[in-house]
Amino acid sequence: MTSPIDATTTPAWTDLTALRESFSPDLRGWFATDAERVESLTFDLADLRVDLSKNLVTAEIRSALVHLAEQTGVAERFAAMLAGEHINTTEDRAVLHTALRRPAGSSPALVVDGQDVDHDVHAVLDALSAFADRVRSGDWRGATGKKVTHVVNIGIGGSDLGPVMVYEALKPYADAGIQARFVSNIDPTDIAQKTADLDPETTLFVVASKTFTTLETLTNARLARDWLWEHLAAAGVDVVTDEARSNAVAHHFVAVSTALDKVAAFGIDPANAFGFWDWVGGRYSVDSAIGLSLAIVFGPGAFRELLAGFHAVDEHVRTTPLERNVPVLMGLLNVWYTNFLGAQSHAVLPYAQQLSRFPAYLQQLTMESNGKSVRWDGSPVTTDTGEVFWGEPGTNGQHAFYQLIHQGTRLIPADFIAVANPAYPLADDGRDVHGLFLANFLAQTKALAFGKTAEEVEAEGTTGALVAARTFAGNRPTTSIFAPALTPAVLGQLIALYEHITFTQGAIWGINSFDQWGVELGKQLALQIAPAIEGDQDAIAAQDPSTRALLAYYREQRR
Ligand code: F6P
Repeated sequence: MTSPIDATTTPAWTDLTALRESFSPDLRGWFATDAERVESLTFDLADLRVDLSKNLVTAEIRSALVHLAEQTGVAERFAAMLAGEHINTTEDRAVLHTALRRPAGSSPALVVDGQDVDHDVHAVLDALSAFADRVRSGDWRGATGKKVTHVVNIGIGGSDLGPVMVYEALKPYADAGIQARFVSNIDPTDIAQKTADLDPETTLFVVASKTFTTLETLTNARLARDWLWEHLAAAGVDVVTDEARSNAVAHHFVAVSTALDKVAAFGIDPANAFGFWDWVGGRYSVDSAIGLSLAIVFGPGAFRELLAGFHAVDEHVRTTPLERNVPVLMGLLNVWYTNFLGAQSHAVLPYAQQLSRFPAYLQQLTMESNGKSVRWDGSPVTTDTGEVFWGEPGTNGQHAFYQLIHQGTRLIPADFIAVANPAYPLADDGRDVHGLFLANFLAQTKALAFGKTAEEVEAEGTTGALVAARTFAGNRPTTSIFAPALTPAVLGQLIALYEHITFTQGAIWGINSFDQWGVELGKQLALQIAPAIEGDQDAIAAQDPSTRALLAYYREQRR
């Protein structure tokens, strides 16, 4: 295992520290004096137009940041990832989500650890496509011969957030009369509400779990199976014998997992299971068979367009010099804000209602990847790592939390994401409503960048204490990401963009962005506490005083 290069010992870090000391952000001045600023900081990344010009960066800072990427070996690490080296050191695994979107027949073929990755990826993709087509056409039918109208994906984390985000984003492309629902939480409310109005005869459950051991998913899968049997019986279907029950499961359950033996043990026919591999991290898996529900709802063609979008960005990262490499530059800006300007969070603000779940998706991608305190060789990190990612679609956020971004005391870099063409081009009294929506996107990025001076406020007739309250400091950094429309390809590009931003930051910090040990302790403790919830005295006695008191309250209150 090669040790990570400590970013803080590089000459570039020294330069950035010096630049920070004399740094005085001045977006108004920089725009006024540099006619080339917008052009030099605007990039076309596949179908995405990315404008970085409203970031707190000068040519000198940009150049020092690029040197930082060079001196910490970001490009080399990216190449190692693409080649299948085991860069996930703590799990001794390759990290090959980029292989999931390599076109068929790519040359040279990717063979890793003796596995012909291209062959295997496309074999699953073809099987998934064929299955999706069967469900869409009605060739696949439920136990009573009815066509599927609802697909319920049961999964959590990466086996949920990606599919649900893409489903919401691409809903206008649903063209087979099939809707999807997503059950993730072990709170029984989730499955109870999501199945309440479903017809068991026309419902297909997709149990999605990389490990097929996740407590939430397996519990929900069993609840779904009970629901199916109970409601089929209520509809007069014979589910009394074991054979009849298995037959019902065979017609209404399929699975996606790397653990096909466990799928079979659950009772799902391995012929109806779609595999993937341990080199696909959960939060990087929406483009694997985990996207089965999407291929069913939108069709295999749209699913492949999504993959092509991912691949276009992979190719950009692989072939573009660091100084023009968009995900690398965005990752570097995040490092600048986090490690030099003290930012602790990063807002993602889609001006596209269809991207309402994109911030939640990015939370797992970025925070499970880069929320680390040790580097990939086990040594402590030498600087702050992952920021808190958060956000809501505009304009809703404007009427909720933007106040703090505009006038609060914290620096919150924000990404604005918009599309030129809406899925629903409605007009209000002859005015294009989407145009009005986009005016808000442009207004917000402008207000954040350039603010409003006290003189400008006074010039409007405001006096006294109100002047300060109405003044906007500006210099609040934003990135604008614009696309022609929210197509499957554009969505794939957006996801891959953030995957590689995350990668860049992790590479600079020397951390393994592909494990997630931080979620394990809570899982273990939940299993230990479960008997205490049921009243096991030994388990109760083993708890700390606070947990014991909370358990006592629960047992008093539970009816
Ligand atoms: O929360 C930890 C985690 O392992 C995530 O990384 C993963 O996406 C999620 O649980 C679900 O895991 P699985 O797909 O194995 O059920």
